[in-house]
Amino acid sequence: MASQTDLIHIFNGIPFTSRSSANLLKALNSFQAREDDLLLVSYPKSGTHWLAEIMKHLYTSKVSLTSPIEFGDVSKLEELSHIPSRRIIPTHLSYDMLPTEFKVKKCKAIYIVRNPKDTAVSLFHYYRENPNLPTIETWQSYFDMFLRGDVVCGSWFDHILSWEEHRNEIPTLFLYYEAMKKDLPTAVRKISTFLGINISDNEISIICKKTSFNEMKMNVEKDNSDPNHTVCALTSNKKLIFRKGTVGDWKNYFSNRQNRLFDELYQTKMDSSHLAKHITYDN
Ligand code: A3P
Repeated sequence: MASQTDLIHIFNGIPFTSRSSANLLKALNSFQAREDDLLLVSYPKSGTHWLAEIMKHLYTSKVSLTSPIEFGDVSKLEELSHIPSRRIIPTHLSYDMLPTEFKVKKCKAIYIVRNPKDTAVSLFHYYRENPNLPTIETWQSYFDMFLRGDVVCGSWFDHILSWEEHRNEIPTLFLYYEAMKKDLPTAVRKISTFLGINISDNEISIICKKTSFNEMKMNVEKDNSDPNHTVCALTSNKKLIFRKGTVGDWKNYFSNRQNRLFDELYQTKMDSSHLAKHITYDN
């Protein structure tokens, strides 16, 4: 088993786990994108697996859902080059680290956003249960790390702002976890319009049933998860993903003082963000 200090390394100022090798991260910029590649982008614990499952059901013809571009060693680039189109490629990379070719070829991206307070709580549990992440002692110490951006994949704020800043460089659809929980059919309709997929209301309602939290959790518990089919670079164990799947769990964790500190930082960082208007952020 890797020692605690071996689990994390810093690349470009951002903490990555040892599952993303420094050599791969260095070589990412030489990645050969294809025009029809589709990126599934998220900060960890925002609903990446949910979005990926919806994508699998939306495409009736064959598509290849790859593992995340930043997961593995440098051989990953060669491996991805053998995968047939259309490739759906998940990533937790910030926009600045995205291989240039995706930008040149104007590949489409779908970015899923979740209330950062719920994201923080979900990531807290991931730190506790995922052996690929270092041990954390208390909620308070983790909370301070999250606000400083000293957690895996760096600051939630910097991640979303990097993608917002460049939203017109590549066609990007922003989806909101809470809006999906409230009205999934509308979200699925938005995705299909963005991708130019024709789909009936009945097909959408079937997809919504198949991708409900309970259905997905039950399927994972029945199957043995396939390590080649992870969509999060931080684990291959899908059983760690389906915890509660609710909105507002942060209220069970944040003290009044922590909530105030979080709100202050949110207001400072997200002051000029247009996306912030759509983010469910209940004080
Ligand atoms: P919780 O830890 O709050 O339960 P990711 O896939 O990016 O790692 O995100 C994981 C989070 O999304 C977990 O949140 C998980 O329960 C939630 N999630 C996964 N599938 C979901 C679904 N079908 N509906 C709602 N939430 C889902």
